[in-house]
Amino acid sequence: MMKSNTIIILLTCLIIVSCGQENESTSQQKEPMIDREVFGQTQDGQEVDLYTLRNAEGMEVKVITLGGIITSWTAPDRQGNYKDVVLGFNELEPYLGEHPYFGALIGRFGNRIAKGKMEIDGEAYELATNNDLNHLHGGPTGFHTRVWEVISTTTLNNGNIELKLKYISADMEEGYPGELTCLVTYTLTSDNSLHIDYEATTDKTTVVNLTQHTYFNLSGANNPILDHKLMIDAEQYLPVDETLIPTGEFASVEETPFDFTSPKTIGEEINDGHPQLAIGGGYDHCWVFEKVDTVRLVASAYHPESGRKLIVYTDEPGIQFYSGNFLDGTLPSKDNGVYNKRSGFCLETQHFPDSPNQDAFPSVILSPGETYTSHTRYRLTAE
Ligand code: GLA
Repeated sequence: MMKSNTIIILLTCLIIVSCGQENESTSQQKEPMIDREVFGQTQDGQEVDLYTLRNAEGMEVKVITLGGIITSWTAPDRQGNYKDVVLGFNELEPYLGEHPYFGALIGRFGNRIAKGKMEIDGEAYELATNNDLNHLHGGPTGFHTRVWEVISTTTLNNGNIELKLKYISADMEEGYPGELTCLVTYTLTSDNSLHIDYEATTDKTTVVNLTQHTYFNLSGANNPILDHKLMIDAEQYLPVDETLIPTGEFASVEETPFDFTSPKTIGEEINDGHPQLAIGGGYDHCWVFEKVDTVRLVASAYHPESGRKLIVYTDEPGIQFYSGNFLDGTLPSKDNGVYNKRSGFCLETQHFPDSPNQDAFPSVILSPGETYTSHTRYRLTAE
């Protein structure tokens, strides 16, 4: 018969071992890290580097210095299996050619400006019309085509990983007045969020509307996103004309296919023939939020089969939901296939399209001495 003190010693050992094992299991979690490697060179010989940010959960976000492009972003399904959930390319070459802004930082002005024309303080400016009659996403040599400087990489004590990028857009670059100094900070946090903090200052009055143009497919595979359930917390959206420029009307989403106030699959009404869906070839519109200037939850997308969920928070007044209507099977996918129509969707937080020409829209003017700031957080979770 074992003496009671022997039993106590044995139990104590068991408790120590189990704690040790617990520590072992958590220590098996990955160490937060940020890694750099050369990804290639642009046509004019600029080196493009690839940064891999990984948190303790094992989420990895890969960013290249060309356009601050997110080339890969892994997210867990309900079983904890991480898969890449963003569209892009496996190597640099295709990013140097024509592509639909896969994963890119967009500027100086995200979205369209009608006819490439705007006035600032009574002075007229002409911008490139690189999208039919209009100017789109900062023009053919917009911020998505520029090599950004990495000014710091930091692994913080709380396990967050930070990558700070800088780009100085010269006065009259792409026709925009003022030298605009832009800072963008990507922060990957331990709750599987990527925070994007934008900051800009100028030496002359100009316009600025920065955004991030990642295409998501929460299935982690290359198939249509019509089965994703989308929620957009907005009672109004901006109808557009035939060239996708807002008419200026703030239209109610009520009893229209644009009502995502309750989660609904992207495919549920996308082909229902609504005139605005006909113009966009699907969803390609800006929704209008009630509350602005404060970071709040504005949208989410859920993939029922995998359980993956994307939650979007921002302090921006609008979000462009684009259902990948122009993807046409001509671009190579990471799985050695091609990206077909609606194989990815974008939720681009932003000020409204054509704001420089629409006085009723929130201002996008930035003057010397002011600092433009914007914050968006994309959280990838599973349920
Ligand atoms: C934005 C626009 C779309 C399309 C994509 C890029 O989302 O709203 O019309 O131009 O960019 O292809």
